[in-house]
Amino acid sequence: MLTPIPARLSQLLLLLFLLTGCVGTPMGAKVLDGPLVISTWPFGKHANDKAIAALAAGKSLIDAVELGIRETERVSADGSVGLGGRPNAAGYPQLDACIMDGPSRDAGAVAGIEGIVHPISAARHVMEKSKHVMLVGEGARWFALEHGVESVPIDDLASKKQSWAEGHRPKDVDRDGHDTIALLVRDKDGHLAGGCSTSGAGGKLPGRVGDSPILGSGLYVDEEVGAAGATGIGENVMRYCGTFLIVEFMRQGMTPQAACEEAVHRIARLDPRGYKLDICFVALDKTGRYGAAASNQKFPFAVATNGKSKVLTVEQVTPR
Ligand code: GLY
Repeated sequence: MLTPIPARLSQLLLLLFLLTGCVGTPMGAKVLDGPLVISTWPFGKHANDKAIAALAAGKSLIDAVELGIRETERVSADGSVGLGGRPNAAGYPQLDACIMDGPSRDAGAVAGIEGIVHPISAARHVMEKSKHVMLVGEGARWFALEHGVESVPIDDLASKKQSWAEGHRPKDVDRDGHDTIALLVRDKDGHLAGGCSTSGAGGKLPGRVGDSPILGSGLYVDEEVGAAGATGIGENVMRYCGTFLIVEFMRQGMTPQAACEEAVHRIARLDPRGYKLDICFVALDKTGRYGAAASNQKFPFAVATNGKSKVLTVEQVTPR
């Protein structure tokens, strides 16, 4: 039976409404044809390039995340990622990392790990070779070594502590930098994955774990919707599940840009510090749109697609 025109029209309108509701723009969104990688800070550009090259070479999403972040860990970019990162209050680095795969919804994380050159690879081993999601400290190191990851001896802690105490101990932990690589990948078919790696806050107490290895705080990937990553003072992200919040905002129809900004506003409204949070977010969605926002500083971040790789900057959000 032929459907009467008005009914078909209303079906079309409903379909249009649902589609545009899903992508959060009145005109709908053009779905990106190729892959896209977004990551935090200018050092993310090199990581993005590695990730895009990995996808172009036919490697998997998770390979792309791991290879990208390994590049930042390798150069210990900005002294805030990898073994060249910021030492804790006792003078040695304890590293945090996590990785999350959208299609399988698998994830792995390590926290407070010592003497491991590539924490992101250790996190991947946790995801793929254990039945757990997170390992910490000595257990994380032991597991990583069992799986052959590159390491350095950690029997020189006493001398590290001494040299640190002799002149480098930060006076103000909060201000001692909180740069982190959070890297999100969307492949050409719209599948999503991400990872995060950091030495955490300089001068942190030994054993302190920040947002970066915590799913929903430093990183969250939802294959249905999008992904988000965080950098900045972990304590101000993890008390609000910052990246989970952003993904949920995108699920409600916000663009990645609006969702990042809304998360900053939400946290600033609830937190006694207001906008003095020192937090930044990046996000991308299933269709390949991306965004970034920062609470109280300029925030440079890196974006790469096939053939284009750049560093962009957002200003701090305008306080409401
Ligand atoms: N966002 C990194 C940290 O606070 O440890």
